[in-house]
Amino acid sequence: MGGARVLLTTSCTHALEMTALLLGIGPGDEFIVPSFTFVSTANAFALRGARPVFVDVRPDTLNMDESRLADALTSRTRVIVPVHYGGVACEMDEIGEIAQSRGVSVVEDNAHGLFGSYRGRPLGTLGSMSTLSFHETKNVSCGEGGALVLNDPALISRAEVFREKGTDRSRFFRGEVDKYTWRDLGSSYVPSDMLAAFLLGQLEKRASIQDARRAVWNRYRTELADWAGKRGVQLPVAAPHVNPAYHLFHMLLPSFGERQALIAHLKRHDIQAIFHYLPLHLSEMGQRFGGRPGDCPVAESVSDRIVRLPFFASLEVSDQTRIVEAVRSF
Ligand SMILES: Cc1ncc(COP(=O)(O)O)c(C=O)c1O
Repeated sequence: MGGARVLLTTSCTHALEMTALLLGIGPGDEFIVPSFTFVSTANAFALRGARPVFVDVRPDTLNMDESRLADALTSRTRVIVPVHYGGVACEMDEIGEIAQSRGVSVVEDNAHGLFGSYRGRPLGTLGSMSTLSFHETKNVSCGEGGALVLNDPALISRAEVFREKGTDRSRFFRGEVDKYTWRDLGSSYVPSDMLAAFLLGQLEKRASIQDARRAVWNRYRTELADWAGKRGVQLPVAAPHVNPAYHLFHMLLPSFGERQALIAHLKRHDIQAIFHYLPLHLSEMGQRFGGRPGDCPVAESVSDRIVRLPFFASLEVSDQTRIVEAVRSF
């Protein structure tokens, strides 16, 4: 991760909670998140009493739309939390510039983006902090797990204390102090050694895992291109300055009805296709924070039209052939 300090955590959710603690987020603060994301991106900061400001996503990458940030920023904004959807980078130069000009932090929710890059720089090294997920659905996983990536060295010692129940046990383990004690706020965010070992085995094989995922992604892209063009289906895009992490393969159908029909069609072929992310601004919590239909029209439309195809490193060529044929027969 470009020399950053990385602390394994019990989940990406917990790593995000640690970033909120480290930034001293509290009541009266605001944070900017895309509406089209997993709940933890917002919940970690809301948990500290801050108010989410939801921005819409770009129709091409489904990432936070950087052109909407200027309108979303207020004097209360403390942090912008971009999510590299599917492992395809957000426009980090624009996001970083606007954040810097307004004195606001950037925390990357990089749950999808490990091993992806933006203009040659690894995703997760572009904000002051970033977070990773090793949940069972991710490219490398230990069931439940995550990491906090600290690109700003000034944050390291407090982060170590937060992760270790508010104690300086990390320094004790390194022999820097002869006992450890309560130093600051904290909680229990250290994963077990067994989960870490399980994860390490996969990290050592990251090249073959990523190669396999890239091959599956490219094959879907190539072999579904004609069908998608005829049916008005949008396939995932990655600009030339972006190297994807190949976390998932999604498609946008022209309408909700067609998305539902495709899922049913694939189910009849014993193929599980799923969708995700109900827009956060329309969730029960999002509405309590003032979210209303029409606030983020792209997120609302995408949420109705998205479908994800089976996507994992060990997907057999013959199984992928069957999936491609089933999709084309829709
Ligand atoms: C964008 C995003 N952020 C955060 C998370 C939370 O990750 P974890 O399950 O490791 O807490 C997820 C989980 O899928 C996610 O997709």
